[in-house]
Amino acid sequence: MFDKSKIKGVIFDLDGVICSTDELHYQAWKALADEIGVYFDRQINGRLRGVSRMASLEIILEKSDKTYSEEEKLALAEKKNDVYRKLLGKMGPEDVSDEVRSTLVALRERGYRLSIGSSSKNTPLILERTDARRYFDAVSDGNNITRSKPDPEVFLKAAQFLNLDPCECVVVEDATAGIDAGVAGGFFTAAIGAACGYERADFNLDTFSDLLGIL
Ligand code: BG6
Ligand code: MG
Repeated sequence: MFDKSKIKGVIFDLDGVICSTDELHYQAWKALADEIGVYFDRQINGRLRGVSRMASLEIILEKSDKTYSEEEKLALAEKKNDVYRKLLGKMGPEDVSDEVRSTLVALRERGYRLSIGSSSKNTPLILERTDARRYFDAVSDGNNITRSKPDPEVFLKAAQFLNLDPCECVVVEDATAGIDAGVAGGFFTAAIGAACGYERADFNLDTFSDLLGIL
């Protein structure tokens, strides 16, 4: 049972929660899909939410007639990532909203420890570009995990970095795979954006600052 007085930390997914990189992922995957002649659209892109880079590629290649070797797949993923990182280079502090910033500041003032819990290996670059690293006590991301969401590893690491138990943390996610990961790890979960309304989540956030009504 949720008891606010027992909650000491909040773990945030990055893409789609702190900032919106979905469109940039879409553009980079679309460029790759067009190059290799594979059908790809925004609906398929929605399935990539919260999923690791290699698992995303597998989803995209479902529409391909060709069988790719592991080496070729790694090269394709790297190609997509090069395009994606160029797009990330254009991001700036304006890509994290005032609402997100003021909510993070208010949570810190209330004494919560905050961490990122993202599958993305580009987390350090995104936090740097958006000048958002300073709000978080810890960062757990695609660089410190071996299993992607819905496995809870990234959130369990985040809780460990914060020195908290999962039952003392709320995970905030825009991907159903991320909510599943939070539930699997024994965390309380709050769904936002694309995951809002997902029945497995403990809370639904219409907007980011709704967190201040829960915590
Ligand atoms: C997640 C995104 O945050 O990171 C996924 O929701 C993405 O769409 C995943 O595939 C991995 O990102 P990256 O930056 O390591 O390729
Ligand atoms: Mg996300």
